[in-house]
Amino acid sequence: MVKLFKSLFGASGVDPKQAPTTESTAEGSEVSQATGAGSDHVTVSMTVNGEAVTGEVEARTRLVQFIRENLRLTGTHIGCDTSQCGACTIHMDGLPIKSCGILAVQADGADIVTIEGLANGEELHPMQEAFREHHGLQCGFCTPGMVMSAIGLVNENPEPTEKEIRHHLEGNICRCTGYHNIVKSIAAGAESMKGMK
Ligand code: FES
Ligand code: FES
Repeated sequence: MVKLFKSLFGASGVDPKQAPTTESTAEGSEVSQATGAGSDHVTVSMTVNGEAVTGEVEARTRLVQFIRENLRLTGTHIGCDTSQCGACTIHMDGLPIKSCGILAVQADGADIVTIEGLANGEELHPMQEAFREHHGLQCGFCTPGMVMSAIGLVNENPEPTEKEIRHHLEGNICRCTGYHNIVKSIAAGAESMKGMK
């Protein structure tokens, strides 16, 4: 069961170290023009789920593309590509952002957490567990973004009211659930997150 939900919650991404176009580095955040003739490629470096990664991307590459295509972390979804649906929500330097809305180069040097970075081995993050327990998903497409957004809310506001949760979800669209169980899940997840660092 945990395996099923880990896959729904995006915990099945390939280790960035194994991605063919990416290699781990400890060299920090320098962006530099790649050496290929006529190329507008740049090298970006950032920390993703605790791993230092470097990748070569076109300057126009959005962060969500870098995460999904270079790092093969496909738990971060693309629903609209226009910063409206929230399916691509990740954390950058501790805050939830829509990763389709910024370029990979703008995240150079940043600390990124994706849905794959939440579980501790086989143990789901309390917010993931709350979504599982309270049936906060149907097809699961919006779920990674919902979970990342919900954790962002609770980090800012550890005891959100139902109204505050609903207001916060303005930026995350779900086409299946009607939101009731998502709201319940987030309230329960907030309760479970009490005491976490
Ligand atoms: S894919 Fe980024 S907000 Fe919809
Ligand atoms: S569970 Fe299907 S889009 Fe939200």
